Amino acid sequence: MLMKTYRIISPLFSLAAALFFAGCVCYPELVEKETKAPKSERCGECHQFIYKEWMQSPHANSYTNAAFREETNEYQFTFCLGCHAPETIFTGSQIETRGINRAEGVNCKACHLDDCKMSGPTPAHGPHPIDEKNPFFRTSGLCGKCHIGIFQAWQESNRIEGQKTCQECHMHEVERKLIQDDPWQKIYPKRMCRQHLFIVETMIITTENLLTMSINEVVSSDNSIKGVLEIVNAGIPHSVPAGDYGYREAGVVIQLLDKTGAVLDSQETGLFVETKTALQYKEKRNIPFSFVQNKDAYSITARISRASFDKSVNVLLIESTYALQ
Ligand code: HEC
Ligand code: HEC
Ligand code: HEC
Ligand code: HEC
Ligand code: HEC
Repeated sequence: MLMKTYRIISPLFSLAAALFFAGCVCYPELVEKETKAPKSERCGECHQFIYKEWMQSPHANSYTNAAFREETNEYQFTFCLGCHAPETIFTGSQIETRGINRAEGVNCKACHLDDCKMSGPTPAHGPHPIDEKNPFFRTSGLCGKCHIGIFQAWQESNRIEGQKTCQECHMHEVERKLIQDDPWQKIYPKRMCRQHLFIVETMIITTENLLTMSINEVVSSDNSIKGVLEIVNAGIPHSVPAGDYGYREAGVVIQLLDKTGAVLDSQETGLFVETKTALQYKEKRNIPFSFVQNKDAYSITARISRASFDKSVNVLLIESTYALQ
């Protein structure tokens, strides 16, 4: 019994002691800067879940994506590169471009390395140097360093009516360990932390009624089926779509369907930042529609999706159906 307890406690104790005596000097290479900075893969050896999520996120593609390469003329426009491959966001002036590992885009250390220490939201202790708790991580201002226009819209709506932070919607909260590697995962308990996907899932949009729509005033006559689609940005404290850069479209598709779901007629419009047709916070918009009458008409369905220019990305945000029969 004693032996068993000893076997469990002993490695933990020596590890804790090692940490204590080593102070901040463990893994000094993790907090190197500029050309000596580690790749994000290194962070992924311990922070495995966070690394996998970040890899799928738009931030990991922000330097290599086709639209960015094209619009910067294959990285010729150097003034564009800072936010897409930043050295660090902890700078008073303009964000500088990284010298190395640019393909990683907005990487771990761009958001977390502040002055030779890993900066984060809590006063955590780990095997690498960690700063005191940094409250900046729980504020929308962190995202606002690069998402300038969206942050301004958020500030405006936050002034009118207190809003959630960007993180509360875009970094889903979960209870889990921060590390998935031995021996550390044996020592550190689960805690509340946030996923690093940065995209709001469709399910949350629906359950929290952030974006709503309804099909109203439907009139079926001899030659047509007419009506009005009402869309409301009920709870997103920035426009839909949002952003200052790149192609920003939210496509609205309204379709007349038969009993099998086959499309009889269709009407499409786009909401764009560029043409100032984006749906602002709390804005309600009516989109009239008119279809040619069809004896097989069974239902009307409407969808809003976020789309890229070549339509390779087409993420459904919300959907609604109206039964005619
Ligand atoms: C050898 C394993 C290991 C590696 C490699 C590692 N970390 Fe950590 N890190 C930890 C542990 C352990 C903690 C503390 C966990 C806890 O308190 O639950 C931690 C804590 C943190 C925190 C503090 C979180 C807070 O609550 O404030 C940040 C930020 C962080 N790491 C970022 C990074 C980044 C960025 C990298 C890559 C440059 C990295 N880590 C590499 C093990 C590691
Ligand atoms: C260092 C600059 C920087 C910071 C800080 C930053 N982002 Fe980003 N973000 C970008 C860039 C650049 C892109 C474009 C990536 C792409 O689409 O290729 C992006 C893309 C996104 C997208 C996807 C947009 C799209 O078109 O699909 C979301 C959502 C997002 N960021 C949310 C956030 C949130 C939330 C925060 C704060 C927790 C944040 N970002 C902090 C630079 C940043
Ligand atoms: C766009 C900026 C951004 C990037 C890129 C980013 N993080 Fe974070 N990270 C944050 C923010 C903001 C928080 C604070 C979330 C909160 O309120 O708890 C955070 C929290 C953390 C934490 C503490 C746990 C938590 O959720 O509170 C760790 C550990 C961490 N990040 C590691 C990483 C690692 C490893 C990478 C790269 C794979 C990475 N981060 C990339 C912004 C970023
Ligand atoms: C109340 C929840 C909520 C808050 C708070 C919030 N967002 Fe969003 N955001 C959304 C939803 C929902 C979408 C639509 C989903 C999508 O386009 O993928 C979205 C979309 C986005 C997009 C993609 C825009 C597009 O149309 O392609 C970016 C970038 C973004 N948000 C950044 C931010 C930033 C930065 C903040 C803070 C200043 C923030 N958001 C605050 C819910 C929120
Ligand atoms: C202040 C920081 C910043 C600067 C400087 C910047 N960008 Fe971006 N870029 C972003 C952010 C943040 C996004 C994500 C969408 C948004 O919020 O506007 C983005 C998204 C993009 C996208 C969309 C990528 C996709 O996946 O569709 C393109 C293209 C782009 N930027 C091109 C450029 C070009 C060209 C320049 C130089 C004229 C530039 N950016 C300068 C922050 C920046």
